[in-house]
Parts: sequence; structure tokens; C-alpha cells
Amino acid sequence: MAEHNLSHIDLNEYPHINKGLDGIVAFSTTKSNINGQTGELIYSGYHIDTLAENATFEEVCFLLWYDRLPNQTELDELHKKLQANRELPEPVLTYIKTTNPKAEPMAVVRSAVSMLADFVDDDASDEYNAIIMTAQIPTIIAAFDRARNGKEVVAPLKDGSTAFNFLYMLNDEKPGQAAERVMDLCLVLHAEHGMNASTFTCRSICATESDIFSAVSGAIGALKGPLHGGANTAVMNTLLILKEQGENADPVAFTKAKLDRKEKIMGFGHRVYKTFDPRAYHLRKMSKELSEETGHVYLYEWSEAMVKTMKEEKNIDPNVDFFSATVYYSIGIQPDLYTCIFAMSRISGWTAHFFEQKANNRLIRPRALYIGEKNLPWTPVEDR
Ligand code: SDX
Repeated sequence: MAEHNLSHIDLNEYPHINKGLDGIVAFSTTKSNINGQTGELIYSGYHIDTLAENATFEEVCFLLWYDRLPNQTELDELHKKLQANRELPEPVLTYIKTTNPKAEPMAVVRSAVSMLADFVDDDASDEYNAIIMTAQIPTIIAAFDRARNGKEVVAPLKDGSTAFNFLYMLNDEKPGQAAERVMDLCLVLHAEHGMNASTFTCRSICATESDIFSAVSGAIGALKGPLHGGANTAVMNTLLILKEQGENADPVAFTKAKLDRKEKIMGFGHRVYKTFDPRAYHLRKMSKELSEETGHVYLYEWSEAMVKTMKEEKNIDPNVDFFSATVYYSIGIQPDLYTCIFAMSRISGWTAHFFEQKANNRLIRPRALYIGEKNLPWTPVEDR
């Protein structure tokens, strides 16, 4: 990188650069509140613990979209709309079946969601389009996973919850109540989280008066990165590296060695939480129970050893992505699909923020401090 002479910069014009927009409040929202000091999370008025104990994913979708819980009729209607719209347009299904089977699943989800825009009417409402994406993202994920493994794609059911239908399409087998509840709880826990990078991306695209499919496609691209939703896959890859070490696996030494090399430990740390992520308590409990049931208890024990080491060494706690990895692993989901499941849930939060941004819009347009040269003389190409 070239050295820059900054003498020409008028620092009065830009008194402060906030790298990463840390702590900047640029929106008001009714969708969620995070207290990073106490580790409290609220979705539209309801504590995450209350929702984890009581709500289904579909109730959370309604809550985030309309800022209130649905009555029975409204909930039934929402279920019916989702069930009726699960099938993909044929060209999208063809794309999924014929694309490179080695493609990253999140890239396929991003491209397929983008394609969905071509198959809705120009005058379809944002609410309708939100339903379409919420209904079809699970179909996209399951279809790609089956197609890339040379298996017959399973058509979606016209009944059952999002969680039930997703597991059914993925495995070609109806899940039991316990598996459905695990999946549903994961969807509830990942649905919404304030001004995270993907939601910010979604709102930025919305603010240019672009369409909801563009906003969600951009959000999926942001979620894919390992510093954001991609961390859950990265956590599982870390645990699988340890697994390969067999009897020599030592999660404490492994974590310390990574820290010594100044590497990030995936699934730890958060821009807002300075304490345990409240979602991680629920995922940790599920991780323990499921790993015991499915014979992967060593993965849970290694995870706990890493949590302890990170606390002692760096005073950093796990985030939502840490224990979700072992939960998905225990229910037999391929690690590279974990971030897709995050997207399958966060579609509710993204679309809720899209509605909110659109209802009270202003173009999002921060500034950058220019630190390059100015007014250089032109040098003809043969003289450079
Ligand atoms: C999600 O924002 C949201 O709401 C996101 C999310 C949601 O629901 O949408 O909660 C989901 O994205 C969770 C985060 C998933 N990402 C990871 O698990 C990747 C690993 N984590 C980090 O890279 C990091 O903690 C971030 C990206 C999550 C937060 O980055 P920040 O706020 O920019 O913090 P930082 O990188 O500047 O770190 C501050 C300090 C540094 O130490 P010092 O240089 O000050 O000594 O903490 C250290 C960092 O090195 N640190 C870590 C660490 N996380 C922070 N050190 C080792 N391992 C880590 N994971």
C-alpha cells in the first residue's frame, strides 16, 4: 500500500472516522432491541426467552412484520399462505438442479432468491413477496442439497410448519416432534437482531427505492461472510479439525495456539454483546441434550472447553453461531448449510426492516475521508 501524505486533508470537515460505524444509531426500529451489557434481546416487545419458550417461527414472522402477535385466524392464514407458496418456479428449480454441485450453498441461495423476482407480478405487494421468499428459501436449500448429492429433489408439503417441511424436504422423511421443535426453535432464535450487517445492507438497498428481492439478495451476500452468519459453518469446521486429531484433540491448546497466532476464534465475540449472547443459552442447552442423544457428546465438551478458554484468555463470550453449529450437526445437517438455515430464519427480520425502512425512508449515504492525492499532473502512458 502506498504511503499517503495527509497534509492536505481538512480534518475539520471530517472530525471523526467511525471505523465499522461502531455505536452509530442511524435508524429507529420497533423490530428488536439488544442490551449488550445485560445480554437482553427483545423482538417487537417480547423477550427472547419468552419467545423461545412459547412462539413458533410463523408467530415470530407475524410479530416482526406487524409488531403484534397473530390471533388464531391470522396465524392459520399465514400458515396457509406459506404452505401454498412453497413450490419454486420451474426455471429456478432447473437452475438449482443444474448449477455446479460444488457451488457454495449460500451463493446458490443468493442467486435463486434473486431469480424469484422474475416470477412475481410487477405490482405484487412487499408483504406478498416477503411470504414468497419465506416460503421458498427452505425449498431452495433442500433442493440444492439433494441435487448436489445426486438425490431426487423432494417436493414441498402443502401442510405442516416451515421447520417440519424443511426437514422433510432435506431428508425425504417426516421428522419427529422433537426434531421439528429443535429446528423451529433455531428459526425463532435467528429471526431478528437489530442493525446487524445483513439487515443494514437490506435497509441500504431499500433506501434507494430498489425492490425487496434486491434488498434480500444483498442481505444474503452480507450474511454469507464468516464475520457474520458464515461463522456457524466455520465453527463446525473448527470442531471437525479437532475431530480429525483423534485422541490428540486438545481444544484448550488448540484455542490458545490460535489466539497466539492472532487468529479469530469463530463463534466468539460480538459488536454489541459484551456478555453471553442470550440466544446462545438456548442453543447451548440444545447442543448438550442433542449431542448426548446422538453420540457426539465430545463435540459439546470441546465446545465448553473452548468457551472456558476464551473467557479466561480474552474475556470473550460465545455468540449465536457457536452452539448452533453442534445443534445442526447433531440433527444431521451438512455444515455448509448452516448459514443457509440462518438466512431461512433471518428473512423474517430482513423483510420486517424493509417494510419499516420503506414506510419512513431516507437515502442512506455516509461519507468517507479521502486520503489520496489531489490534482496530480497527467502523465502520458508512454512516460509512466
Ligand atoms: C453474527 O451483529 C449482529 O447482530 C450479528 C449476529 C446476528 O444475529 O445478526 O449476532 C450474528 O454475525 C455473530 C458474529 C459471528 N462472527 C464470528 O463469530 C466471527 C468471530 N468474531 C469476531 O471476528 C468478532 O468478534 C466480530 C466480527 C463478531 C465483532 O467484531 P468487532 O466488533 O469489530 O470486534 P473486533 O474484531 O474489533 O474485536 C475487538 C477485540 C480485538 O482484540 P484487541 O485487538 O482489541 O486486543 O476482541 C478480539 C479482537 O481481536 N476478538 C477476538 C474475537 N472477537 C473479538 N479475538 C479472538 N477471537 C474472536 N472471535
